[in-house]
Order: sequence, then structure tokens, then C-alpha cells
Amino acid sequence: MTDDYDAADNARKCYDVAIAAMREKLHGFRQERIGDCWLINADCKEVLPLLPKVDAVVTDPPYGIGEASKNFASRGKPINSSNSRSRAIARAIDYGKSDWDSSTQDDAIAAAIERVKWSIVFGGNYYRLPPTSCWLIWDKLNGDSDFADCEMAWTNLPKAVRRIRFLWNGCMRRERDVTREHPTQKPVDVMKWCIEHIPEPHNKTILDPFMGSGTTGVACVKLGRKFIGIEIDPGYFDIACKRIKDAYAQPDMFVEQSKTEPPRQLDLMEAAE
Ligand SMILES: C[S@@+](CC[C@H](N)C(=O)[O-])C[C@H]1O[C@@H](n2cnc3c(N)ncnc32)[C@H](O)[C@@H]1O
Repeated sequence: MTDDYDAADNARKCYDVAIAAMREKLHGFRQERIGDCWLINADCKEVLPLLPKVDAVVTDPPYGIGEASKNFASRGKPINSSNSRSRAIARAIDYGKSDWDSSTQDDAIAAAIERVKWSIVFGGNYYRLPPTSCWLIWDKLNGDSDFADCEMAWTNLPKAVRRIRFLWNGCMRRERDVTREHPTQKPVDVMKWCIEHIPEPHNKTILDPFMGSGTTGVACVKLGRKFIGIEIDPGYFDIACKRIKDAYAQPDMFVEQSKTEPPRQLDLMEAAE
């Protein structure tokens, strides 16, 4: 009996020591807590093992196609210049950052999705992921340009393939009021559409380990969800912080108020509770 008690006591002490060590390590990273969003400026491979449990991963990792290194400097040229719609397509913009898209991050994606019930991974067609019934397809209505017609998000959702049509190019694009601050920035409405596919009850806390300019976080604010975002680049991290602050400052008049709790500070380990 005493031995059993000692073993249980010892296990609890080990657990407490491990949690204290994790908290200390997490404190070593630059982080911001804005309302129900917890943003960490770090390599997600270091942070993922330290995080509390979350419901779902919704992310847009590097596709490993050199998007940031001018591979696509010529991309965006209209294929058929006699087509007036294709002339309106935006050219690729140089954002001055050069290497974040040089390879895929299979290990980080595996580590992220193994800890949650539901996952949505943009660019899943570049990753080693299991067969699935449900891909979320974003049809970009690109006309005759040499941009891809669609982007594909792998999911493990128990659903059939779903598609959203959402124009996101040139002066005709939707969300024209949103400044493009990242070369692969996603539309907020597309990320909202993705998040809304995640079924109850595991849809409350969303993790994006590759948050870029924070679009998944902005979508979470607008849907009244909790969000944990990780971004390695300090410049994009700053942009994400600002966009998420702005999202809280300009509540969407169409957000169901009942779903949205007032912003408050999150404790370090309570994000998923
Ligand atoms: C495809 S972009 C995400 C763009 C985002 N969806 C948006 O709307 O702005 C991928 C991001 O992952 C970041 N990244 C790359 N490797 C990372 C890592 N190991 N840990 C955290 N972030 C990383 C890159 O800096 C880049 O901003």
C-alpha cells in the first residue's frame, strides 16, 4: 500500500517537474496573447511538443516550391493577352524573404496532426499524408493565367470533397480591403469556410503551426474560436499580431455575438481547456 502510494506520489512529482520545465521553455520564446489568441514566434518543431491539447490543426505550411525565392517572378503573366479578365491578374510580389519555402515540413506536420482530432492542411498534395475522402478545394477562378486553378487542403474530416469558389487575384479579387502582406496569404473567408467544416465538439481551439501573416487567427477571431499560432519569421509574426489585434478592434457585424466571448488574456497552459 505504502509502495503504491509512493509510486503515485513520485509520478505526480515527475509530472509537475515536467510541466514546470515545459512552462519555462515556452517562456523562453517571444509570445503575445491577444484576446483568445496565443501567438508564438519560434520554430514550430521546438514548440509543438510543449503545447497543451488542442482540438484541430488548420494550417498552410510551406509547399517546398520556392515561392519565396523568386522561382515565380514571371508568374501572373496572362497566358492569353487578348482575354480582358486575364490582363487584370496580379504579378508576383517580392516580399524580400527568401528561404522559408525551400522544403516541405513533413515531420512538423506529422507532429501537429497526431496531437489533434481534426486536421486541415493546405498544400496537402505536397505532403506525405494518408488517403482520405475529404479534400477542401479552393477554386481561385483564375481565368487563363498560369497560376494554379485551385488549392487543395487535405483533411481527415469524415466528409466528401467540398469546393469553394473565391476569386483572389488582381484588381477583380474579393477582400480588396485586405492588404496582402505575405506572398501566400490566404483569404480570411476561405479559412473561415475551412474552420466551419470542423464538427462539434472538437472545434473550439485551433492550432496553426505555420501561421504566416495570421489569416487562420483572423478567421478564428471572426468565428469566436480560440487560436494558437506559431511563426518562425519575426517580420511575419509582427504582421500576424497586428492583423489579429485589428480583427478584435473591428468586430465583423455578421459575427454571431453569442459565439464570441469578450477578449481576455489566456494563461500559458490554459489555451485548450
Ligand atoms: C505558406 S506560409 C503561410 C501563409 C499564411 N497562410 C497566411 O495567410 O499568411 C508558411 C509560413 O510558415 C513559416 N514557417 C516555415 N517554417 C516554419 C517553422 N519551422 N516553424 C514556424 N513557421 C515556419 C514561414 O515563415 C511562412 O510564413
